[in-house]
Amino acid sequence: MYDGGKIITGVVIGLALLTFPFWYNLGRAVTKADPKLPTKEKQCVEPKAYMKTKHMQLLDLWRDSTVRAAKRSYIGFNGVKYDMSLQNTCMSPDCHSKKTEFCDQCHNYTAVVPYCWDCHIPPKEEKPKEVKPKEE
Ligand code: HEC
Ligand code: HEC
Repeated sequence: MYDGGKIITGVVIGLALLTFPFWYNLGRAVTKADPKLPTKEKQCVEPKAYMKTKHMQLLDLWRDSTVRAAKRSYIGFNGVKYDMSLQNTCMSPDCHSKKTEFCDQCHNYTAVVPYCWDCHIPPKEEKPKEVKPKEE
């Protein structure tokens, strides 16, 4: 009546299928966010802890005051005057010009997709060089 061999095979295949998502994603799903800070500019417009948690609100404020109130300068916490510009200030060559190594690191990890880049132009980044096979 019972065929032990077939039952065991069935259970093994069943378990393998059931756990497939876990071992398939081993080492993939848990790639940690590793945002790289700018090498040139050492100080953002507000302290690091504030930028980490509040940059979205600050960007909204910058957008609204430039677009709606035509107010374009912002005095940072250190008294320095900044141009409220996503492209020219935040993403400038001295600051976060490497979007893929900074912004995207956290956003990909947390599955956040800011729609800003539908219109704003992200900084041009060098793509990692393709390694071409050597010609003999
Ligand atoms: C340390 C991690 C981290 C870095 C670095 C980072 N972000 Fe974010 N960002 C987040 C998180 C987390 C959220 C989502 C917060 C939420 O939903 O409450 C977010 C949300 C946003 C939003 C709002 C998106 C929305 O749809 O509501 C904007 C805009 C944004 N980030 C812009 C940027 C830009 C531009 C950069 C790079 C200059 C950047 N962020 C770098 C973590 C980061
Ligand atoms: C539908 C297109 C569109 C989208 C989407 C958009 N913007 Fe803008 N944004 C504009 C336009 C147009 C201006 C006006 C440019 C100017 O006057 O310099 C502007 C200006 C700004 C400015 C001030 C000027 C500058 O040089 O940066 C900031 C800051 C800004 N946007 C932030 C954001 C952020 C943050 C997001 C995403 C949360 C976003 N924008 C999404 C179109 C857009």
